[in-house]
Amino acid sequence: MNVGIKGFGAYAPSKVIDNAYFESFLETSDEWISKMTGIKERRWAEDDEDTSDMAYKASLEAIEDAGISSKDIDMIIVATSTGDYPFPSVANILQEKLDIGKVASVDQLAACSGFMYAMINAKQFVQSGDYHNVLVVGVDKLSKITDMSDRSTAVLFGDGAGAAIIGEVSEGHGILSYELGSDGSGGKYLYQDQDTHKIVMNGREVFKFAVRIMGEASNKAVEKANLSPDDIDLFIPHQANIRIMESARLRLGIPEEKMSVSVDKYGNTSAASIPLSIDQELKNGKLKDGDTIVLVGFGGGLTWGAITLKWGK
Ligand code: UT7
Repeated sequence: MNVGIKGFGAYAPSKVIDNAYFESFLETSDEWISKMTGIKERRWAEDDEDTSDMAYKASLEAIEDAGISSKDIDMIIVATSTGDYPFPSVANILQEKLDIGKVASVDQLAACSGFMYAMINAKQFVQSGDYHNVLVVGVDKLSKITDMSDRSTAVLFGDGAGAAIIGEVSEGHGILSYELGSDGSGGKYLYQDQDTHKIVMNGREVFKFAVRIMGEASNKAVEKANLSPDDIDLFIPHQANIRIMESARLRLGIPEEKMSVSVDKYGNTSAASIPLSIDQELKNGKLKDGDTIVLVGFGGGLTWGAITLKWGK
């Protein structure tokens, strides 16, 4: 059975925060942020727009794109680190909001690699024949857990959501291979503080890890699919920092024009970052039916995940 993305949707809040915004209360500059991260602006959700609200909007689009009704969904997996509550899960809230049947629903946490993990989990359920239309959402509202007094993290993060219906797709489409992994010894480099509930990061260490793992995981997934870098039409890495993305691209041997870059517009949106980039490339015509793509994420945990995929239904 070919399992892939039957429907796709994404959502970014309308409030745009540019780099100059931070200059008024932090010792930073548009020049530093642009040069060191590639970020020009990010989107922040309003206070009353929670994680599940963004997930809902992206999911509606994915359901419509798949040409199914919410009643056809038989499982929900939401990748997020910033649920509305510790429990109930965002998946539970979505099940109610979308009027989906009383199906299995669960959040899973693999930080910025979450969408990769959720997609592969969904693939297993579909491949087993147990479920047919699994709603997978990557969503984060990082603005609510960002320490706005810490210039080394405040400027990096944004909010957004992406959703996919994972199910059976036609011959020549779907997921070809994947590579998932984690290293708990690096948990100390990126975590949410228990007292302040804000993100704490050792940027240097995460940077070094990311540069190595993005290339390694992508290469493994490409090898597992018996592909060579020349076969890749589009490389869509987690949008954390343009310097990390560039280094992964070079390790994989992909030309510049084949890498998706949306970090300039959205910053780092964690589990939403890969789907927001997919959305951008679909809208600008760079991602087309039958294209061979590589998705790769890394994040807190530390975790990583890469997927090769033939785009289309
Ligand atoms: O999704 C996964 C989550 N995280 C990431 O992917 C982040 C990975 N790490 C990074 O992207 C980079 O480490 C950063 C962009 C966060 C920082 O870049 P860096 O090349 O690692 O710089 P650094 O941390 O070594 O800092 C260099 C200097 C320091 O000043 P001193 O000690 O040299 O005087 C920092 O204090 O840059 C300073 N700095 C800033 N300066 C202006 C840190 N943040 C800022 C800022 N504006 N916003």
